[in-house]
Amino acid sequence: MCGIVGYIGKKDAVEIVLKGLRKLEYRGYDSAGIAVVCDNLLHTRRSVGKLCNLTENIKKNPISSNIAIGHTRWATHGKPSENNAHPHTDATNSIVIVHNGIIENYADLKNQLKENLKEFKSQTDTEVIAHLIKKYYKNDLFDAVKRSLREIKGSYALAVICKDDPDTIICARQDAPLIIGIGQEENFIASDIPALLSYTKNMTFLEDGDIAKITKDKIIVVDKDGNEQNRQVKTIHWDPILAEKAGYKHFMLKEIFEQPRTIEDTLRGRVYPNEGKIYVEEVKLSKEDIKNISNIYVVACGTSYHAGLVSKIFFENFAKISTEVDIASEFRYRSPILNEKTLVIVISQSGETADTLAALRLAKSKNCQTLAVCNVVGSSISRETNHVVYTHCGVEIGVASTKAFTGQLAALYILALDFASKKESLPKEDIKKYLQELWEIPVKIGEFLKNVLEINKIAKLFDRKKDFLYLGRHINYPVALEGALKLKELSYIHAEGYAAGEMKHGPIALIDEAMPIVVVATDSTVYAKIISNIEEAKARGATIIAIASSNNNEISTKSEHVIYVPKTDEFVSPLMSVVPLQLLAYYISVNLGCDVDQPRNLAKSVTVE
Ligand code: AGP
Repeated sequence: MCGIVGYIGKKDAVEIVLKGLRKLEYRGYDSAGIAVVCDNLLHTRRSVGKLCNLTENIKKNPISSNIAIGHTRWATHGKPSENNAHPHTDATNSIVIVHNGIIENYADLKNQLKENLKEFKSQTDTEVIAHLIKKYYKNDLFDAVKRSLREIKGSYALAVICKDDPDTIICARQDAPLIIGIGQEENFIASDIPALLSYTKNMTFLEDGDIAKITKDKIIVVDKDGNEQNRQVKTIHWDPILAEKAGYKHFMLKEIFEQPRTIEDTLRGRVYPNEGKIYVEEVKLSKEDIKNISNIYVVACGTSYHAGLVSKIFFENFAKISTEVDIASEFRYRSPILNEKTLVIVISQSGETADTLAALRLAKSKNCQTLAVCNVVGSSISRETNHVVYTHCGVEIGVASTKAFTGQLAALYILALDFASKKESLPKEDIKKYLQELWEIPVKIGEFLKNVLEINKIAKLFDRKKDFLYLGRHINYPVALEGALKLKELSYIHAEGYAAGEMKHGPIALIDEAMPIVVVATDSTVYAKIISNIEEAKARGATIIAIASSNNNEISTKSEHVIYVPKTDEFVSPLMSVVPLQLLAYYISVNLGCDVDQPRNLAKSVTVE
């Protein structure tokens, strides 16, 4: 939540920071702002709403400098307004700060700064940091920030500049991501990799408690105890083109179409179907370790949680390990029974989701083995877990997750098969067969994506509906949940996902003629059961949109609309059946004129509780 970018060097810092913020707008878009030092004065520009408003503002009121910090906001404290927009300054307009996170003791700190109270201009938790730094500032910004942070409780990634020190950016992180990009006679900071990809591939990921002093030629990092640290520089190989729309109308559509490639990338080098071999080398668990796992907890949020629900079926059926799946924000406040024989798998596209990170820390504190399925290299979760399996999806910019979901499913599927192979819980021939089924999925999704306009025709028939139901069973029940989540977050239409067999225990009362029901009815062991559920819904007047396997000749007699997908084995079917649901939500949202890539109230990376 919230994106930060900073630049110091010889180039036009305003242009670089604005360009970087554009890449981070998915992190929040309630307001945006920028601050520069020019002629020993601070200049800030702030605008409510999307970044384009700030860009317009700067066109009308130009500023320029070789040093700048910028911010795109997802509001926590204080509604979206110009006064609450970052950057925030102290009372004398000497110190300016941008911040991502929550300062939990901001009210106490504000009270301690009583003499300045009347000078506070915003309702944010952030502004107090600017006043605090000013209090400690004695011609050494690094020192003033260090002293101030000792008094701060909460989470932060922040950047500070000062009118009297136009050659320095100070930044710090605690429970919120911050990256330093290393250039030639220039350096950068950002909340996330895409903001920097056009400028440098060499990046340092700050650790919790780190504070850094950045000039154009030098970076000094000290840890929470004040000791200087040489943090590793990583080379990031993501292609900057991935962060562009490449001719697609929206990032989300582009990311849906990327899925054949991103699944292939996640499998490449790990899966050899002809030999029935799997190599997940990042996981350093021995055969003995895997045999010793008594149970698995899979913990995640949102779409990643839905991938976790699917993985329960992989781990139980392939590896024969009892598996629980939990929402991270629930798991962390329960008292889950965890011990050193429990494997806790956290799933996170961003690797920064606050609740998932807290769940991981809880698991580690109970001596569990921990494993993350993660998309972002160097993210907090990927660094703190014992083992990490990366989904090689590249940057996902659309706030609604699509390619990350199918990448997670692919990674979890091979992980479960790898465990099965090491535990010998499945015959070798079965492992080979399952690998082959997964291997064929990218081509099948590619085939399906040739005819997506059919889905738009259906979308146009239903885009004025107020409520939708999504039904699925067994391995496709989580897909129904995911389809409903996509529709509600993108189009603001109320949608619920249910296990189809649960309908008659209550939700069936919702059904009437006005209710479209999307049913995942691909070939499976529970196909006959789901047909019965369709009949029950139709008997109450519902209109059915079925997702069915291409060989199904019967379903068109039972459903008003059918979206056919290539036939797959049941275990890999979620990777296929979710794609039409992503597209249905996409087209309905486009037809309604909603903001597909940046739906209201959301942010891509949820780094606050
Ligand atoms: C779904 O479209 C959302 N982007 C959201 O539910 C997301 O999956 C959730 O916030 C978890 O994010 P993560 O995978 O980065 O941890």
